Amino acid sequence: MGILSGKRGLIFGALDDRSLAWHVAERCMAEGASIVLTNTLVGIELGSIGCLAKERGIPLIACDATKLDELSSLFVRAQECLGGKIDFILHAVAQSMNMRRHKAYTGMNYHYYAQTLDISAMSLHKLLQVSMELDALSEGGSVVALSYIGSERYCAGYNDMGDAKALLESIACHFGAEYGMKKGVRVNIVSQSPTMTKAGSEWSDLDYWYRYTDKLSPLGNATADDCANVCVALFSDLMRSVTMQVIYNDGGFGRTILTPELAEAFSV
Ligand SMILES: NC(=O)c1ccc[n+]([C@@H]2O[C@H](COP(=O)([O-])OP(=O)(O)OC[C@H]3O[C@@H](n4cnc5c(N)ncnc54)[C@H](O)[C@@H]3O)[C@@H](O)[C@H]2O)c1
Repeated sequence: MGILSGKRGLIFGALDDRSLAWHVAERCMAEGASIVLTNTLVGIELGSIGCLAKERGIPLIACDATKLDELSSLFVRAQECLGGKIDFILHAVAQSMNMRRHKAYTGMNYHYYAQTLDISAMSLHKLLQVSMELDALSEGGSVVALSYIGSERYCAGYNDMGDAKALLESIACHFGAEYGMKKGVRVNIVSQSPTMTKAGSEWSDLDYWYRYTDKLSPLGNATADDCANVCVALFSDLMRSVTMQVIYNDGGFGRTILTPELAEAFSV
C-alpha cells in the first residue's frame, strides 16, 4: 500500500530515463498508482520511452499537447486503459526553438516564440480545458506542472522559456481557481532546480549554471528524485487543500543571495 494506492495518473513528457517525468512515473508506480504515459510521436520515436514503457508494461499513447483533437482522444483512451476517471496529471512539457537555435532574447524568431508559448505553457490550459469538457478528472484530482525560477527573475540564456514559464504559472493559478470551484481539482506548479535532462541540455549555459545554483542553494540542487517525491505528495490526498501554488523544490536557492562559501570566493 502506497500513498497513491488505487489512483490513476496521466504523465506527459517522459522522453528517456533522465526525464523528470520518468522519475515521477516510477515514483507514482512505487506508491501504488496505475499510470498512462504520453508524448509526441516524434518524442516516442526519438527517445527511449517506448522501450521503457514496454519493459514496464505501461500504456503509452502518442499526443501532441498543443492539439485539441489529439488531447480529446488521449483523455478518452487513457480513461479506457486506466478503467475510470483520472486522479492526477503531470505536465512536464517544454520546448524552445529559439534556445535550440541559439537565438538571442533580443533577436528572437517570433514564429519560434509563439511555438514556445504554445508548447510550454498554453498546452497546460488546453489539457485542463479538454479534461474539464470531457469530465475526465475525478473529484479532488490533482494536476502538477513543472516550472523554473526563470519565470520571475532574469536568468541569462533562459530566453523565451522565461516568458513561457511565467504564463504557465499564471494559467495554473487562474485555471486552478476555476477547476477548484467546479470540481475540487487542484492545480499546482513545482519550480525545480536545474537538472541534467534533454530539455535542460538545450540551455547552453546549464553546466556552469547547475554548479552555481548547487553552491548557492543551502541544501544543494534538488534532484530529479526529489522532484518526483514532491509531485507524488501533491498528487496524494495529503495535500488536498493545496492549490494554485508555486512550490519551490530548489534547495532554498530562490530565498538565498549569498552563502559564506561564495562570500569567501569573492573576498580579496
Ligand atoms: N531540466 C531542468 O533543469 C528543468 C528545471 C525546471 C523545470 N524543468 C521543466 O521540467 C519539464 C520536463 O523537462 P525535462 O527537463 O524533464 O526534459 P525532457 O526533455 O525530458 O522533457 C520535455 C518533454 O516535452 C516533450 N514535448 C515537447 N513538445 C511537446 C508537445 N508538443 N506535446 C507533448 N510533449 C512535448 C518532449 O518530447 C519531452 O518529453 C519541462 O517543463 C521543463 O521546462 C526542467
